[in-house]
Amino acid sequence: MNESIWKKTTDFNTVDKNLNEIKNNKKVDICIIGAGITGITCAYELSNLGYSIKVVEKSQICSGTTGNTTGKITSQHDAFYDYLINSFDIDTAKKYLEANERAIEQIEERIKKEKIDCDFKRLNSYIYTTKKEEIPILEKEYDALEKMDFKCEYLKKLDLPFNIEGAICFNNQAQFNPVRYIKGLVNKLLENNVEIYENTKATNIEKNEDDYIVTTEKGKIQAKYVIIASHYPFLKFKGLYSAKMYQSMSYLIAVETKKELPNGMYISISNPNISIRTAEYEGKQILLIGGGDHKTAKATTYEESYGRLEKFAKKYYPDAKILKKWDAEDCISLDKLPYIGQASTFLPNVYVATGYKKWGMTFSNVATNIIVDSIRGIENPYSDIFSSLRLQPVKNYEEVKNMLVDSSKGLLIDKIKEADILNYDLKCDTGKIIEIDGQKIGVYKSAEGQIYAIKPICTHLGCLLNWNQIDKTWDCPCHGSRFDYLGKNISDPAFEDLERIEIDRDKEV
Ligand code: FES
Repeated sequence: MNESIWKKTTDFNTVDKNLNEIKNNKKVDICIIGAGITGITCAYELSNLGYSIKVVEKSQICSGTTGNTTGKITSQHDAFYDYLINSFDIDTAKKYLEANERAIEQIEERIKKEKIDCDFKRLNSYIYTTKKEEIPILEKEYDALEKMDFKCEYLKKLDLPFNIEGAICFNNQAQFNPVRYIKGLVNKLLENNVEIYENTKATNIEKNEDDYIVTTEKGKIQAKYVIIASHYPFLKFKGLYSAKMYQSMSYLIAVETKKELPNGMYISISNPNISIRTAEYEGKQILLIGGGDHKTAKATTYEESYGRLEKFAKKYYPDAKILKKWDAEDCISLDKLPYIGQASTFLPNVYVATGYKKWGMTFSNVATNIIVDSIRGIENPYSDIFSSLRLQPVKNYEEVKNMLVDSSKGLLIDKIKEADILNYDLKCDTGKIIEIDGQKIGVYKSAEGQIYAIKPICTHLGCLLNWNQIDKTWDCPCHGSRFDYLGKNISDPAFEDLERIEIDRDKEV
């Protein structure tokens, strides 16, 4: 998998955060599962208030979506406010906007307070279109914002190297290097004696009188409160998140050019969209170009993902040199609002924060405010609209349809002959699902010709996986779990690896 510029340029090894064994003799106030921006921000605020905290992360700090985001901190989430007014009401739209605007200020305050060097910069944010037929969408969005008394500008020109048909500007939004920001917060957590355990997968949460026991690979943690900040809640049934969320992939490239760079953050309202921002990388100002969203596991080609972004870069910045490329995965709820708050009616004091719909920089902060207030018994003005217990009538039929996929029966086979696989004429460095004796088998043939086989059944709820040729992964079309070609789980909600199928390389057997 490709590495983002944020992860490439931020070294967490200077902090002593790897503890090998959980000191399970000491109960803590709060156990946080997940060390991305939500988990770390919650840990930061709660440890400053004096709560004792342990954080467990199944991989490394910022290894998930936080490390692969565009790092835009904005309340302008595509053309979204017209949707909110129509699907909910004007109060919901106003609260959504206020909560996200407040998040920008709080992130800035934290950066100043902790003196975090993370390239934080206040900039305008723009949604735009280059297509005449999309002008009505922008006009409706602008009307919605006017109804909400939010000051923004309708523009016909931007400092981008192409003409546009229209744009809406939100002033004074922001961008940063998200991983350097998290590193600054982690340094403070260590001062606050927060224990952070990387490579420590949480596998269960059980009620134990007034507390919870979080079972992990490195021991058990007893805590009064549990915050599930693991991108996609890993609980299989409680809360039924798998019936109300799916995951979506998007792509980013980092581009060096000598051409003048724009001075803002931009996202087109077209589908597929294009997202643009500048960033600091190895002492230079560069461009980040993103887009190409699609539901995880939907078959896509290089041309439709990175290739499209590269073509865009070369068209408008002919000297463009592609420095890096990477992808990100996000959770999308059926009504497009995040789920924040109590994870399930059966689990008081267990919180969840998920479904950020690609706007996690601000929503991680909104989630922190709601969860911290709830733990402290303070009413939060935004908790109702994002409540994870809400029962919202589904209006997004397209997204519901996305969940209707095939599943497959369990497989009995645990050993196959290499000769049988070779009959399938599999090209080097490709993977596919083949069928032997009526059983489906996921096979990847490496660039060197080595064959790896897995049972292509998702360990979350049993859907049949698809091969992702771009990242060389097995992706689940149901809720977006991902596994590398060896079957190792790399993305929630599944947390167990795939079963490997042994290859019998003896052609005589
Ligand atoms: Fe739920 Fe695969 S992610 S079945």
